[in-house]
Amino acid sequence: MIALKVNGLYHEIDADPDTPLLYVLRDEIKLNAAKFGCGLGQCGSCTVMVDGKAVLSCVTPLLLLEGKQVTTLEGLGTIEAPAPIQRAFMEEQAAQCGYCIAGMMMRAQALLQRNSKPTDDEIRAELEPHLCRCGTHMRILRAVHRASRLMDTADASPTVHGRAQ
Ligand code: FES
Ligand code: FES
Repeated sequence: MIALKVNGLYHEIDADPDTPLLYVLRDEIKLNAAKFGCGLGQCGSCTVMVDGKAVLSCVTPLLLLEGKQVTTLEGLGTIEAPAPIQRAFMEEQAAQCGYCIAGMMMRAQALLQRNSKPTDDEIRAELEPHLCRCGTHMRILRAVHRASRLMDTADASPTVHGRAQ
């Protein structure tokens, strides 16, 4: 049994310690924002944050997560109260099919938490591991800049939206 803290809530997970975090999030905890794209650490669609850093959940085994804080897109905001990064992606209409977008937002959030005013080049370099086959790259770039501006008037750290423990 492994105790996993996700979006502020503890979950007791009865699974092989080698199980990828992505499978636990989607199949056990029913958090479906992180997507299975390649399963090989090559597309970025499964990205979540672990202790504030962007992590590819498809290649991160449970055994590395004891005592760490996992944050998924669901933990940043809600439909009623979206986080700045979520609001910015919506306002820039950055998603086409949307499959890559949760991962893009999570890595952008991690970037903005350590660098609140990234340059174009810094955003491009950060998001380089992420594939978007719809080609919405320029909108995504604008959305990250917009999120940076929105965070000027909001707390840049994620507000974890979970149920009371
Ligand atoms: S599904 Fe994890 S990097 Fe592609
Ligand atoms: S919006 Fe479709 S893959 Fe990026």
